[in-house]
Amino acid sequence: MGISNLKVIILAAGRGTRMKSDLPKVLHPVCGVPMIQHVVKAARSVSRHKPLVVIGYQAELVSEELGTTVDYVLQEKQLGTGHALMMAGPHLGGFPGDLLVLYGDTPLITEKTLIGMVAEHHKAQAGVTVLSVEVDEPTGYGRIVRDKNGDLQGIVEEKDASPTEKKIKEVNTGIYLFDCQELNKSLNQLKPDNAQGEYYLTDVISLLVTEGKKALAVLSGKSEEILGPNDRKTLAETDRIMRRRILDYWMMEGVTIIDPSSTYIEDQVKIGRDSIIYPGTFLQGSTEVGENCQIGPYSQIQNSLIGNGSLVRFSVLDQAKTGQGVNIGPYSYLRPGTILEDKGKIGGFVETKNSQIGEGSKVPHLSYIGDCKIGTEVNIGAGTITCNYDGYSKHQTVIGDEAFIGSNTNLVAPVNVGKGALVGAGSTITKDVPASALALARSRQINKEKWYRRKKD
Ligand code: UD1
Ligand code: CA
Repeated sequence: MGISNLKVIILAAGRGTRMKSDLPKVLHPVCGVPMIQHVVKAARSVSRHKPLVVIGYQAELVSEELGTTVDYVLQEKQLGTGHALMMAGPHLGGFPGDLLVLYGDTPLITEKTLIGMVAEHHKAQAGVTVLSVEVDEPTGYGRIVRDKNGDLQGIVEEKDASPTEKKIKEVNTGIYLFDCQELNKSLNQLKPDNAQGEYYLTDVISLLVTEGKKALAVLSGKSEEILGPNDRKTLAETDRIMRRRILDYWMMEGVTIIDPSSTYIEDQVKIGRDSIIYPGTFLQGSTEVGENCQIGPYSQIQNSLIGNGSLVRFSVLDQAKTGQGVNIGPYSYLRPGTILEDKGKIGGFVETKNSQIGEGSKVPHLSYIGDCKIGTEVNIGAGTITCNYDGYSKHQTVIGDEAFIGSNTNLVAPVNVGKGALVGAGSTITKDVPASALALARSRQINKEKWYRRKKD
């Protein structure tokens, strides 16, 4: 996949001051994924080469996030978008093809739009192509200046624009396609003689036009695709658009989403067909939901795997894994390391952690199950607690197949309950229970005949 004579450079050295954040802007998540990851994904979909990312502000954080999926150029001082490309020059060297420039803060750009732009560039045999959009409120953007034939003359930044130019509603998206060699020549001629004292990449356009190169502005109908969040308000707006795209995708794949406006599905999540997602549900991280499941209402599922035909209601799951046909909730919390096997049940007000619950086993009510291995077809009575922590370290409880734990039992770990054993309700079990045994660990009931009546008299 991707075009072979096309390389992508992503500018991500800026700070994004208006975010008022310690985190660089490009690392703010959109639908659970740092926005630059969306841009890298788009880059990889159009080009066969590793994208080159220009980093500067908090460079280590950005390179930590992207790892070896991209190459890097360090721009120590952010002297403008043109300067960022000047720094990249040596890395692009004599690349014989086209260079696509993307900004790290435009996560909504799609493969389709980029491919269309590349096609127009070649059709027109242009030296440079700029992707533009028309917006009702152009403030802050560079304006697209065309001559009377409609040909692109250049781009004027907001702070350098005349009152007439400020009225132009066609703006620069910051997405460009250059002939790599021509660009390198023009970059040497850039000067920071403008209102912001920066090297503007946008000035390259008019330089190329002066040299007689054809410059093309491709007007995209999809203005939402270039939304580049500059503050938390536009970040939320961007998230909303991306969220809706993800929901539409899953609905087209055969997933029922009862109320898209209150359902949050992150970018990497997968869902099987005929599953129903109820309102107020968050599916996050690497979560995978099988087919024919019913998830929600009001559930948060992070980095978890849910088998086919399962039911999760009003619950929170974090790094949990289930087999098929399980039933969870309402109001339960499955913490990391919970494994609920086929047809297992975790009912209401149950907390589990680092525990395996075998096939067909049930923890129906009001329990804490931590560091526990439960066999198959086990019944855990209401209010059972695994006392897994002695103040220093955690210990394991092991419960054999078909065991029955009576209500309100404390299992003081480390402890084993054998296969088919029965623990009487209200027991505090501190010693191992052999297979098939009955364990009672509670004081005997004493009845004092007529004692209460006599006292009253
Ligand atoms: C830029 C464009 C403007 C366009 C707008 C679209 C220029 C001169 N202007 O303006 O025409 O309408 O984007 O959003 O290009 N960056 C670096 N190094 C730098 C400066 C910026 O890597 O020295 C990166 C930033 O991290 C960011 C991108 O370049 O990802 C754009 O920078 P930004 O400062 O947001 O440019 P705008 O002023 O918005
Ligand atoms: Ca911007």
